[in-house]
Amino acid sequence: MARLLLAAVAVTIVLAWAAYRWETWPPPVVRGHRLALSLGCGGCHDLAGGPGAPNPGSREGRVPGWGGGNAMMYFPEPGDVAAWIRDGAPKTYRDSAGFQAQQQQQALTMLAYGGRLSSRALADLTAFVEAVAETRAPADGAPAEGYAVAARTGCFHCHGPGGLGGIDNPGSFAGYIPGWHGRAYRALVRSRDELVAWIRDGRTERTDANPIARYFLRRQQLHMPAYRDHLKAAEIDALVAYIEALNLEE
Ligand code: HEC
Ligand code: HEC
Repeated sequence: MARLLLAAVAVTIVLAWAAYRWETWPPPVVRGHRLALSLGCGGCHDLAGGPGAPNPGSREGRVPGWGGGNAMMYFPEPGDVAAWIRDGAPKTYRDSAGFQAQQQQQALTMLAYGGRLSSRALADLTAFVEAVAETRAPADGAPAEGYAVAARTGCFHCHGPGGLGGIDNPGSFAGYIPGWHGRAYRALVRSRDELVAWIRDGRTERTDANPIARYFLRRQQLHMPAYRDHLKAAEIDALVAYIEALNLEE
């Protein structure tokens, strides 16, 4: 009898652990961000996409940013971002005498990370860099407006580039601030009203009423701010349009 009970407890623990891992498994952009931090990319690049470290001897004087329109110049072809990270530059650059000569003159050069990365890690890093570079940001319409509102209001600082998965959040259920799509998002947002409530009030009635959700929301270090007094109704509509478009893609 005691053995049976012990087995039942063990199975329950394993199932609960598996359910927790399933529910909170971080999306590629979150994994890519953690990799970028641990691999030292931030020693030379600005992980938010701006110009990187000063780079004496280089043409621009600084390590190039991933954002700010540099995507078109440095990685016009699919696969180019992965090639920069894996090989230190795409083949067209590595074969160019001008690029090689330029690299000889500057203090900092891009490093080949291929030997350190599994193909999964390379894909995660690529997803992170592309999100920072805004290569898939909506081009026009209400979703593009919503993207711009999110960028200037500071949402991406917490929810990650494009709102695709955010920074670590000690004490939270998932361990990181969820993005605006995927399982973690759908657990917190079941309707347009709930989405608006998160943005306006920083909370929803459903999470307030659920003791487990309340426990985690209260003990986590970073909280969702209430933007009620800081955003116009039209800005919230635009944010909703962007977030809904993100979820249609899945
Ligand atoms: C020692 C400094 C250094 C480190 C560390 C470094 N880079 Fe670079 N990276 C550069 C420089 C400099 C360039 C510009 C090309 C050149 O001159 O070699 C560059 C170019 C790039 C480019 C293409 C140009 C651009 O910025 O849009 C990407 C993408 C990139 N790096 C990603 C990464 C990632 C991801 C990591 C971490 C895994 C990383 N880099 C680590 C220095 C560095
Ligand atoms: C200071 C960090 C911070 C900022 C800035 C921030 N949020 Fe949040 N947001 C959070 C946290 C923390 C949660 C709670 C998630 C949880 O329970 O783990 C959250 C939850 C949400 C949710 C619920 C669902 C989900 O998957 O994230 C939405 C939607 C949301 N925020 C939208 C926004 C929008 C839109 C902005 C900008 C106007 C914004 N947030 C700015 C920290 C932030």
